[in-house]
Amino acid sequence: MKTIAIRVKINGEAKEWIIAPGDLLLDVLRREGYWGVKRGCETGECGACTVLVNGRPINSCLLFAAQAEGCDLLTIEGVAKDDTLDPIQEIFLEHGAVQCGYCTPGMILCTKALLERNSAPTEDDVRDALAGNYCRCTGLRKPIEAVLAAAEAYRANGGKKTARAVKARAR
Ligand code: FES
Ligand code: FES
Repeated sequence: MKTIAIRVKINGEAKEWIIAPGDLLLDVLRREGYWGVKRGCETGECGACTVLVNGRPINSCLLFAAQAEGCDLLTIEGVAKDDTLDPIQEIFLEHGAVQCGYCTPGMILCTKALLERNSAPTEDDVRDALAGNYCRCTGLRKPIEAVLAAAEAYRANGGKKTARAVKARAR
């Protein structure tokens, strides 16, 4: 089988992967141990496989891994720092926006991308940002509330998202 090497930066680390030209990014990521990238519909509908590619949410089931050559990838494994959850993760927990957790990596990554480009989203903006992420457990109401609370905390802290700031605003 023909193989090719691709180089990516993923969660801050430089990696080289040997792949087949037709490999999907979803399959390569899971093969490489990034199991937070979930396999759902595999047709671009559910958002469970979302990763950030150069800061933009992408359904990894729809992207050939070869197309990620030279890109900066972020998966949920790169969001927490050691044992410290990202404030967005904390606020999702505090708002009851995580139940089975299957959709959660994609939601967190979409939220990070949203707040990087728009720290004052309206509820409609949040609905748009999460439109590609299906949650069978929460019905989306709690994730929307969590994203709005995370945005408020983000703004209150001048864009520096600290756990303390998020917790203080969540009470
Ligand atoms: S598995 Fe990729 S969008 Fe559902
Ligand atoms: S928390 Fe279960 S699918 Fe969203």
